[in-house]
Amino acid sequence: MSLEATYRARFARSAQLAAQAQHCFPGGVTHDGRSAVPFPLFIERAAGAFKYDADENRLIDYWCGHGALLLGHGHPALIQAVRQQLDLGTHAGGEHALALRWAALVQQLVPGAERVRFTSSGTEATMLAMRLARAFTQRPVIVRFQGHFHGWHDGAAPGADPTDPGAGITSEQRSNLLTLPPDLDQVAATLAQRNDIAAVMLEPTGASYGTVPLPLTFLREVRRLTAEREVLLLCDEIVTGFRVSPGGAQALAGVAGDLTCLAKIVAGGLAGGAVAGREPIMRRLALGEADAGAQGRIRHQGTYNANPLAAAAGVACLELIATGAPGALAAAQGHALQQELNKVIHAHKLTGFSVYGEGSILHLFADRNVALEAGAVPQNVPLARLKAGGDPAITLPLRMAMQLMNIDFMRGRSAFVSAAHTSATITATVVAFDAALDMLKREGLL
Ligand SMILES: Cc1ncc(COP(=O)(O)O)c(C=O)c1O
Repeated sequence: MSLEATYRARFARSAQLAAQAQHCFPGGVTHDGRSAVPFPLFIERAAGAFKYDADENRLIDYWCGHGALLLGHGHPALIQAVRQQLDLGTHAGGEHALALRWAALVQQLVPGAERVRFTSSGTEATMLAMRLARAFTQRPVIVRFQGHFHGWHDGAAPGADPTDPGAGITSEQRSNLLTLPPDLDQVAATLAQRNDIAAVMLEPTGASYGTVPLPLTFLREVRRLTAEREVLLLCDEIVTGFRVSPGGAQALAGVAGDLTCLAKIVAGGLAGGAVAGREPIMRRLALGEADAGAQGRIRHQGTYNANPLAAAAGVACLELIATGAPGALAAAQGHALQQELNKVIHAHKLTGFSVYGEGSILHLFADRNVALEAGAVPQNVPLARLKAGGDPAITLPLRMAMQLMNIDFMRGRSAFVSAAHTSATITATVVAFDAALDMLKREGLL
């Protein structure tokens, strides 16, 4: 039986649900990144490092809630906190003390987080931060970097994907975004030449959580250049926040942005986000015109801002993360996984394959036409190809083969390792990868 026929047979219930989904959801999915060839798996439940699909297959999960679950699925402390809050109500319809505790943890952990405003998602957080930057500086332009993803809203989407024509986004909206390659000389020259720039915005470890990696020196230099020119630094730590260190990439680099965007881990895996930053900027959200200053204030509403369930999960999660233990554990397991997967690539004598990344975030790249040693970062690969993880003729069947071996990498090409991933799950993943490569060989693909 071919790989695809085996996949269809093994995930038969998911196939049925995916067919039904075509009648509900455009493209059959609820998020672009959840689509898959020939169809995505439908997941029924999850626990720790595992998830169970509609056919009752148990898979080792490396999506971990799109990176939101550093503690793994269903951590007992989070479950207890959310259950307790459920009995107290799901919406306070007003301020509540739990949000204060939540904000205090953000203030404690995130550099420069003098004030916090909660949102419902990361997209909302970047939208708000960009507006704050423009209002505070009275300048229109935000500099962003090629391939960096800052959510799907009109203001941030252009520049994230070089293959995206940006249907529905007007040229006016684009005109206030300046997309640069991640080149410090160009940043310096641009900031020196122009006086209309409000902020420089970036994913601090590089595009798509380090798929196109940047060293921390880049972040430090951008901080220096922006400070010199009185341009704001807007750090999108929606993935890296609380993960690459309890204080995110900024704490690792020893710098503080003017504004930081947070989501995912901040809400313990529930829907939630935040903008945190310097008080004089955040004051633009204060109610009184006098507080906000002569330029007026920013109106910001949101039915689910600081939602009590998200707050409960966020507090429980950040209290554990503040100890440093979960992040260190996940990073150690991620490091071990990276080393072992590259040994497998080596043993199969495959060029063009590599697993790279830092700590608990790994990227799998596969393109037989690229000269690449296992463990190295792919160089001189077009951005779209790099962000896609290589050659779809390999990556799509490899993803199917990995799933048949009960491993679910995020989109088949990234791994978010959690503190619930044990050495046994790492070993099982390595054995599965080896077997998946054998399957591809049998298909005549390698
Ligand atoms: C770096 C980054 N910024 C912003 C977002 C958008 O966050 P959300 O999906 O919560 O809207 C994401 C989502 O993956 C992200 O990775």
